[in-house]
Amino acid sequence: MKKLVIANWKMNPINLKGAVKMVEELKRGVAKKSKSEIVICPPFVYLANLAKLLKGSKIKLGAQNCSWDKMGPLTGEIAPTMLKDIGAKYVILGHSERMEKLAENNAIVSRKLKTALEVGLNCVVCIGDNADEHNSGKVFAILEQKFNEILADLKGADYAKIILVYEPIWAISTNQDFVESCSVDEALTVALFFKKLLIQRAGQKSAGMVKILYGGSVNAQNANSYLAEEGIDGVLVGGASLNIKEFLKIC
Ligand code: 13P
Repeated sequence: MKKLVIANWKMNPINLKGAVKMVEELKRGVAKKSKSEIVICPPFVYLANLAKLLKGSKIKLGAQNCSWDKMGPLTGEIAPTMLKDIGAKYVILGHSERMEKLAENNAIVSRKLKTALEVGLNCVVCIGDNADEHNSGKVFAILEQKFNEILADLKGADYAKIILVYEPIWAISTNQDFVESCSVDEALTVALFFKKLLIQRAGQKSAGMVKILYGGSVNAQNANSYLAEEGIDGVLVGGASLNIKEFLKIC
């Protein structure tokens, strides 16, 4: 199975011209028989333009967030239905920057997940521990609670549309509490832990449909060591995805 490489551009680049340049460089650089499936998640306002540029390309488009409703009175929000309509196939949900800086919580993420799945988007669900949780000695119990609360409403067919990302907050390159990048062993241990929880919850067949990724300071130097593990189905890349030459090396 091909590995999945997802770029989270966060709130970058500064203008549409820059985003177009990045996509054109990426399209030129992606090998015809790329070893990976590639998804890029730019800011909302660039999506419609980039969708046109990516028509017919193997590179898929995703958003970084969506609303819990399909339409209606929610000023400033973007519905998953709208994302689907303009050609996005993926959406990132539960990113720690939204949880820690924009007051999202597990119940909100769970609600967004339910709606995005109803609409048919592939949902890139981030679950991670912060530095305090990491050092608490209870990290697996904490991750399990987040897993249970966020994935509370999943049904049989939903599992095929879930991409679960272990993204330790302490290993995100731009985080103020950055400690160090997470070792491959540690990333793999949590990936296998998530797989075990999925099997317990939904059985081997449904659990087998879920891709499990690692994210946090992935770059061209270390990507291969994560991707070489059978238990890690891909990577979610932040900072290093903004440099297209480096991102192409990862892919
Ligand atoms: P970095 O790759 O910059 O550590 O960011 C990780 C991330 O937050 C991806 O969602």
